[in-house]
Amino acid sequence: MTKISTSEIDIVKSETSKIHDVNFKDLSFGKTFTDHMFYCDFENGEWQQPKIVPYQAMTIEPSARVFHYGQAVFEGMKAYKDDDGNVFLFRPEDNYNRINKSAARLAMPEFPKEYFLNGLTTLLKMDKAWVKPGKGNSLYIRPFVIATEPAISASPADTYRFMIICSPAKAYYTDKVRVLFAEKYSRSADGGVGFAKAAGNYAAQFYPTNLAQQKGFQQIIWTDASTHEYLEEAGTMNIFFRINDTLVTAPTSDRILDGITRKSVIQVAQDDGIDTEVRRVTVSEIKEAAINGSLKEIFGAGTAAVISPISAFEHGGKVYDLPDIPNSYADVIKDRILSIQHNLAEDKHGWRHEIK
Ligand code: COI
Repeated sequence: MTKISTSEIDIVKSETSKIHDVNFKDLSFGKTFTDHMFYCDFENGEWQQPKIVPYQAMTIEPSARVFHYGQAVFEGMKAYKDDDGNVFLFRPEDNYNRINKSAARLAMPEFPKEYFLNGLTTLLKMDKAWVKPGKGNSLYIRPFVIATEPAISASPADTYRFMIICSPAKAYYTDKVRVLFAEKYSRSADGGVGFAKAAGNYAAQFYPTNLAQQKGFQQIIWTDASTHEYLEEAGTMNIFFRINDTLVTAPTSDRILDGITRKSVIQVAQDDGIDTEVRRVTVSEIKEAAINGSLKEIFGAGTAAVISPISAFEHGGKVYDLPDIPNSYADVIKDRILSIQHNLAEDKHGWRHEIK
């Protein structure tokens, strides 16, 4: 693979910007896109010249394998701006490593690190005005890879497109979230693709999540497929439980996404002296803790969701409400992480990556 520098990306700049048509105070998650996008095609066994062009529709043959077999993986990351106008990414190498881990599981080629980081840096410099300062504002970044080969035999493609598109964002969930604990449907299984950000993992959740929404719950906390007794993740976020003063979350496995916000929460909690336990969590212990009052909080953690407190869960036809508590771990940890991301606090673990 030849090493490229930023200047070797083919760039076509948009002649006008759409930014003045956007109301940044009233954004629906993932519906507005910045002026430019990055892409790079894999052909003849190697990644070709990367390009940045105005954000636009593209032409793909209807026979492209992505449409038939879902050979597609993605990432979610964010850029933040401080009050001096400096732009930062948060742990971008972790996203780079994870997209390649996901790609490998779906028999897709590895994307070179220089292309990923140069592509991101150049794109963010061009669309810097779309990153607004202030905690709660960010630019959501969606790198993804799709199988483009026009062929419908059920085998991996020999051509792919890697792309990055960006969308200004506020929080994914604006209110507290009510969840169902899964009792029938499953998100992932041992030896499957649950750990990967494979597009199909998300599509498979839409139907059971629709059913949950009809009952007044926004999300499902998935349980292990074989017994439905162990609480795993919520699909758009990893899940934390506060039992008395201990923060507990499930260990990652081939069924659970190795969330970057998840591991940041664990680290920040430990830095703050909070007892943390990474272990399997059972439905029965959480129900018991809700009944005896030792369950103080449940919250989700993810790039889009940031930290989302959960106000109630349902299992076995019974709803368990959680108390509203002052200085919740969710609030304290969210503030710590946002302060690091927005360059308002010391970055002792080297998580911030400045775009220069
Ligand atoms: C993210 O947090 O980046 C995710 O991938 C969740 C997404 C489905 C909105």
